[in-house]
Amino acid sequence: MGYSSELGNELLRENIAHMLSQYRGIPVQADEILITRGSQMALYLTALSLIQPGDVVLIENPGYAPAWQVLRQAGAQLIPIPVDDEGIQIEAVESVCRRTSVKALLTTPQHQFPTTVTLKADRRMALLELSHQYGFTIIEDDYDHEFHYGTKVPLPLASFAHGGPILYISSLSKLIAPAVRIGFVTGPPAFIQAAATLRSIIDRQGDNVLEQAVAELMQAGEIQKHARRALNVYRQRHAQTHQFLQQYLADAVTYRVPEGGLAYWIRFNQSRNIPELTKQLQQQGVSVIDTDAFSYEGAGLNALRIGFASLTSPEMEQVLQVLQKTL
Ligand SMILES: Cc1ncc(COP(=O)(O)O)c(C=O)c1O
Repeated sequence: MGYSSELGNELLRENIAHMLSQYRGIPVQADEILITRGSQMALYLTALSLIQPGDVVLIENPGYAPAWQVLRQAGAQLIPIPVDDEGIQIEAVESVCRRTSVKALLTTPQHQFPTTVTLKADRRMALLELSHQYGFTIIEDDYDHEFHYGTKVPLPLASFAHGGPILYISSLSKLIAPAVRIGFVTGPPAFIQAAATLRSIIDRQGDNVLEQAVAELMQAGEIQKHARRALNVYRQRHAQTHQFLQQYLADAVTYRVPEGGLAYWIRFNQSRNIPELTKQLQQQGVSVIDTDAFSYEGAGLNALRIGFASLTSPEMEQVLQVLQKTL
């Protein structure tokens, strides 16, 4: 109940360290973890600790716009790198590195946001090699790691780093709930200490009571049990969504069945006005985000991100029927 470490609740850090070593191949100690209020805060502290105004940072395009805001706030000069069906394009990364000095690259390799593509193994290795060769830091945002439906769950880039320049960010927003504001960043001790000092300027420490409660649930194995149950539910919803997309929208859209994540990225075969479509869906009670916000240039992506995790099978069927009718 008193003042405690700005790194966050110790029991929670120990449990997260155990989770990272046991399930994600990242052997870290509790004092190499900084607990934050969600991964957004982790991104903010990372960006402000790492980046000097004018530094070049590569980002995925399309990508996670709230992270771009943070990087801009730190004074970064952003260069968008295209994403295709195998993830971020490595040749494009290398081509920028040959021309200019790159400070960092922000990536969501597990389930790329918003396309949900899982970065292919050869590209993962190539990205790590480029980071060594050109000396840039990889900021890895692994926001929904647990939810992968294949038999083989890829390990984070950070698991191959062996103390290399990777800052690994993750969150309990998808594993537990977005309202439980717990995220974290792990990296070299000096970086973690700098980020923690910055954090303490605005927030002396995290929500220690919440953090202790979550730590005790982790310690008792309850969060792991919940993750397994949730994975089973999401696996069914993932399969059902594919079935309904085939049933109602097969002629209208093209998509890849994602290996993991909590959404389908569907591209329209005909050109559509996405902001207008989004508005029309919202008027009918279907909550979707205007995907053009994920495009770096604001160019139309002609796609929607259909989140399936929170919808039961009848709800998803209804949603896709509404989309079919609206098209
Ligand atoms: C790419 C990405 N990163 C991180 C997050 C989680 O953010 P937070 O932990 O701040 O809730 C999300 C949530 O939607 C996301 O899509």
